Amino acid sequence: MNDSGRTLTFNIFRYDPQLPGDQPRMQRYQLEETDGMTLFIALTRLREEQDPSLKFDFVCRAGICGSCAMVINGLPTLACRTLTTTSQSGEFNLHPLPAFALIGDLSVDTGKFMREMTERIEGWIHADEDGDIHSLEQRMEPELATAIYELDRCIECGCCVAACATRQMRAGFLSPVGFMKLGRFHLDPRDTRTDADYYEVLGNEDGVFGCMSLLGCQDNCPKNLPHQVQIAYLRRKMLQA
Ligand code: SF4
Ligand code: F3S
Ligand code: FES
Repeated sequence: MNDSGRTLTFNIFRYDPQLPGDQPRMQRYQLEETDGMTLFIALTRLREEQDPSLKFDFVCRAGICGSCAMVINGLPTLACRTLTTTSQSGEFNLHPLPAFALIGDLSVDTGKFMREMTERIEGWIHADEDGDIHSLEQRMEPELATAIYELDRCIECGCCVAACATRQMRAGFLSPVGFMKLGRFHLDPRDTRTDADYYEVLGNEDGVFGCMSLLGCQDNCPKNLPHQVQIAYLRRKMLQA
């Protein structure tokens, strides 16, 4: 137990869509706080000690895999990076991310969404060559490599999608993670796609022109990726195209 000796309260969304007759509801749990406790640790203890039926996801516990994203006290973020000390009241309301298919309780299927988004934007390098493995590697300026790497830090957690009201209103909206990914390929000189090619995907209301600059993506990305700058850049490029 830590110095505070607090008892934490967790109000957790419960619903299993696979279970006939199950109804969405909030269930209350309590747990003694310990030093350095994260929401991931708290949820794991709740599942081990109080309720083995509780569903939530995690893999890395280190903010890298993106699987533990959920809505914590109204904001989408990573459970493994959220310390329980961040709540003064010691009370947590936990919901699954909206905009994704619910698996059960706090677990959602972000994989299906990310796969469909990647196929839609063709999220891979479109190179001219036929992939000769004996050809020499191409040089890239360190500044450019760093800029591409910066956008590549996305862990596909889905927080930006959950935080985007446009996406909640329009299922066809490409979403901020799609913009981030396309921005990464637009920057990459090995990708031979032209602005006209990007316009096919981005230059409409389901693309970057549908973004209402609500900036939930910017405010809630746990990797602090530059959504605002990226969207403005793509919008400018698509206007030129
Ligand atoms: Fe998560 Fe940020 Fe990637 Fe969106 S852009 S999926 S919030 S890491
Ligand atoms: Fe949505 Fe981000 Fe635009 S939250 S509306 S994609 S600025
Ligand atoms: Fe991997 Fe939280 S468990 S990001």
